[in-house]
Amino acid sequence: MTNDAVVTAPAHSHLGEVTVTAPGIGLRAIGAASRVYARVVADSSIVTALSPARPRRNVGYEFEAVVDDTIDEAEDVRSLLLSRRDGMPLPTWLPGAHIDITTPSGRVRQYSLAGRPAGRYRISVRKIPSGSASTEIHTLTRGDVLRVRGPRNAFPMAEAEHYLFVAAGIGITPIRSMIERAVQDGARWTLYYHGRSRASLPFVAALQRMALTSHGHVVVKTDDADGLPIPADIVDLGMGTSAMYVCGPAALSSRLRDEALRSTAVREFHTELFTPAAVVDGMPFVLQLDRSGDTVEVGAQETALDALRRSRPDQPYSCRQGFCGACVVGFVGGRVEHRDRVLTETERENSLTLCVSRGAVEGEVLVLDL
Ligand SMILES: Cc1cc2nc3c(=O)[nH]c(=O)nc-3n(C[C@H](O)[C@H](O)[C@H](O)COP(=O)(O)OP(=O)(O)OC[C@H]3O[C@@H](n4cnc5c(N)ncnc54)[C@H](O)[C@@H]3O)c2cc1C
Ligand code: FES
Repeated sequence: MTNDAVVTAPAHSHLGEVTVTAPGIGLRAIGAASRVYARVVADSSIVTALSPARPRRNVGYEFEAVVDDTIDEAEDVRSLLLSRRDGMPLPTWLPGAHIDITTPSGRVRQYSLAGRPAGRYRISVRKIPSGSASTEIHTLTRGDVLRVRGPRNAFPMAEAEHYLFVAAGIGITPIRSMIERAVQDGARWTLYYHGRSRASLPFVAALQRMALTSHGHVVVKTDDADGLPIPADIVDLGMGTSAMYVCGPAALSSRLRDEALRSTAVREFHTELFTPAAVVDGMPFVLQLDRSGDTVEVGAQETALDALRRSRPDQPYSCRQGFCGACVVGFVGGRVEHRDRVLTETERENSLTLCVSRGAVEGEVLVLDL
């Protein structure tokens, strides 16, 4: 690491008590093969196609939850502790899971489950400037009621000898649950946690306590004290057999993935994004609204959802990453390049997700049932 004032673990160091001895040729060959396999499994579009994440919005539990308590965790970050309104136990879940929250005004957004506070759900929400749902959630108080759907898990945690967790800002929420699991399992782990400033980062003290009582190690860096994150240094915190779990902005995540693929410090790479990645390989196309007769031009670098919301700001959406189904609309003409992970092949014949799917060729006119 370059800014190593806060880092106490040298790269590739052993934080726990496990001693690794030099493997023989046979073991090395098996190890190399399993590394290739793990990379393919963890980071390949082929595997995504073979085993698509189908965390569909319309499956799982749906119930009313009551806000038991609110906790201000950091600058603009508030936690809500939730239990079921009917007094029944909450559905169980595994680290990496999130729930859909429907706010009192009817907006649906995803929030990761952040740890396991005594049988309740904890969600921790960063208030986004001009963010509609996050601002509304920050006004909720004890006794308020929310609709909850899920939990679902598109960021599952596999077993590993060592975990390298990377969280940027509010991306700590699913990572906190994973760390609790690693502590419980007696696994070795390292957390690299980056934010704008120390005051903006939730759970730092709790995470440091967890590290002290387990085989863990926490590295906290901030823009104001240390500058921007350096992907190569972060990946270097891996120990060769590490599984890397990243939750943060799309740009950082993709730089970390590139670095992880080049490096021998980590064996697997897994990521979850709270906000969508930029449009890749987009071409301009046109939406024609069948019922109103309006047309909307969609630029090469924007989504159909963003273009449509310029004239229809109430057009519903939720994940903006093609996995929840909130933005699905019917279409009656045109060829679609489907980029979602939610619709079946049959559903794709006459519906599309506005947040990720596009016209199949430049200038294609998609006639929407709107
Ligand atoms: C699987 C998953 C898990 C999530 N878990 C959490 C969580 O644990 N805690 C949490 O706070 N959020 C989490 N989110 C994000 C959350 O669902 C909302 O997107 C977020 O609260 C913003 O919603 P909003 O209605 O306030 O903003 P919107 O009204 O939808 O957006 C307002 C503006 O803010 C921009 N914007 C939206 N999100 C961000 C952002 N994160 N940073 C900067 N600008 C943004 C939008 O592009 C838009 O311009 C998660 C998202 C997903 C997909
Ligand atoms: S908003 Fe979730 S699939 Fe489009």
